[in-house]
Amino acid sequence: MLSEQERHEIEAQSHHYPNNRALCIEALKIVQAHRGWVSDEGIADVAEALQMAAAELEGVATFYNMIFRKPVGGHVILLCDSVSCWIMGYDRLREHLHARLGIGLGETTADGCFTLLPNVCLGACDHAPAMMIDSTHYQDLDPAGIDEILTKYQMKEAREEKKEKGEPPDGNSADP
Ligand code: FES
Repeated sequence: MLSEQERHEIEAQSHHYPNNRALCIEALKIVQAHRGWVSDEGIADVAEALQMAAAELEGVATFYNMIFRKPVGGHVILLCDSVSCWIMGYDRLREHLHARLGIGLGETTADGCFTLLPNVCLGACDHAPAMMIDSTHYQDLDPAGIDEILTKYQMKEAREEKKEKGEPPDGNSADP
């Protein structure tokens, strides 16, 4: 069953769409924002709320690559694997990410911090190679730039972990 908050947010979005079929991607994104990914139960919950067939929603969720049907890490890296990025160094970046994170495409780091996924063109071809982390775009990438970006995320995770444990911050608060 949808939570009160999920139901409220979907209802708030419903005014921007002509019908439930048009609303369904937004509804799936809302469920994903609250649960981290969209399980079969999440599909069933949205289907019930929008009075749609679960199979139809399943098709939408599978087609739309920003809906995650498996658990993902705290941050999702979408590495562009389309033609401009191939030309501008995709292989080197992919290998660098594999080495730096210890995971391949479609995998999540052991600490649950990152999931690495391939993605079609991110619309930044004139600044290839490009990637996205969560909803933030990064472009004109090289291995050193990737290291810098990932370090910021890892430092942020470490700060949040300290905060959760009630430990004092280390004084560096540069968020990604
Ligand atoms: S091909 Fe990578 S951003 Fe377009």
